[in-house]
Amino acid sequence: MERIYYDHAATTPLHPEAAQAMLTVLQGPPGNASSLHSFGRDARKLASGARDLIAATIGCRPDELVFTSGGTEADNMALRGVMEAQAASGKRHLITSAVEHHAVLKECERLERGGYEVTYLPVDGNGIVSVNSLREALRDDTGLVSIMYANNETGTLQPIAELAAAAQERGVPFHTDAAQAYGKLPITVRELPITVRELPVSLMTLSSHKINGPQGIGALYVRQGTPLQPLLVGGSQERKRRGGTENLPALAGFARAAAIAAEELEARAVRMEELGSLWIRLMRKASGGTAVVAGHPDLRLPGIVSLMFPGIDRESMLMNLDLAGIAASGGSACTAGALEPSHVLSAMGVPEELANTAVRFSFGLGNTTEEMELAALRIETFLGRNRKSS
Ligand SMILES: Cc1ncc(COP(=O)(O)O)c(C=O)c1O
Repeated sequence: MERIYYDHAATTPLHPEAAQAMLTVLQGPPGNASSLHSFGRDARKLASGARDLIAATIGCRPDELVFTSGGTEADNMALRGVMEAQAASGKRHLITSAVEHHAVLKECERLERGGYEVTYLPVDGNGIVSVNSLREALRDDTGLVSIMYANNETGTLQPIAELAAAAQERGVPFHTDAAQAYGKLPITVRELPITVRELPVSLMTLSSHKINGPQGIGALYVRQGTPLQPLLVGGSQERKRRGGTENLPALAGFARAAAIAAEELEARAVRMEELGSLWIRLMRKASGGTAVVAGHPDLRLPGIVSLMFPGIDRESMLMNLDLAGIAASGGSACTAGALEPSHVLSAMGVPEELANTAVRFSFGLGNTTEEMELAALRIETFLGRNRKSS
């Protein structure tokens, strides 16, 4: 049976050109970018070429990027790094939202245990944070605001430009976790001659494996002048903001994947719109009209479709999907094999019983409409069986 992968929000297949870029480095001569000899100089050149490419995709200066081990480390670094720096001037209050990724929420909990204060902004039924609620929550001792760009469970997009502007008006740095949005939407942090308007964010999280790059690498964009303490200390890499020898093969793969995503941005967006809306239509039909989309109807990444199937237990749905060769996700963290209730859907006010039927399908490279028709037929078969037996 042909296996079908609809879990691109979890991770994506490595682009063949990214794989090739990595292989070239892996099979090439050794080189530590901090060494002074010619091998080291070659490694440094390679790292800075990759840095330039990635910087160009968001319109920032190359030295405003700090490479990390992925989105999780970038989120941790943004929150802890900025709050520790801000604490020196008595700012120990942080604002975030109730629907963030755990890489943000768990760091918030850890900061709270360390004596920081965190405000969790609510979201409406579509999963959106209101700009007014942020304005009301901002205080003189607020050191940072962190609100995600696109939600990893529902794809819902936040009004980041307006939220970041509200923080900026009060002189508070704004971080956005763009792990899901980067490479899928035009995101420019500085005015470039020919592109969209500037996004007034101070920090932004990027992750490589969500855009067909390798796993285990990401970056934190840090606008020049933003206060930040390093998370990892040791060598003086990344301008003393993150100690540790650069992961050159991963960096080369990330840069190649980022450049391709930027080149193909528009074509991919059109494709995702086509696939996402087709999937919604097919799933409505397969469920006898009962499937409901979670998240904002329009302000969403089209490639992430979270569907709730009333009356159908999520674990049996995922098991049946797996038996049908279709990879999708429960949409929330899996702990010891058990699905936890989704904090995102619960913050949106979705009743627990309905939330527990949510399955996230996410699309990307390699998916086709023909394959979708096939997947939908397989799903229709077991949903039909389920309806008959109940
Ligand atoms: C919104 C969001 N933030 C952060 C992360 C963590 O990124 P990484 O897997 O690169 O650590 C993810 C990955 O699932 C994500 O979706």
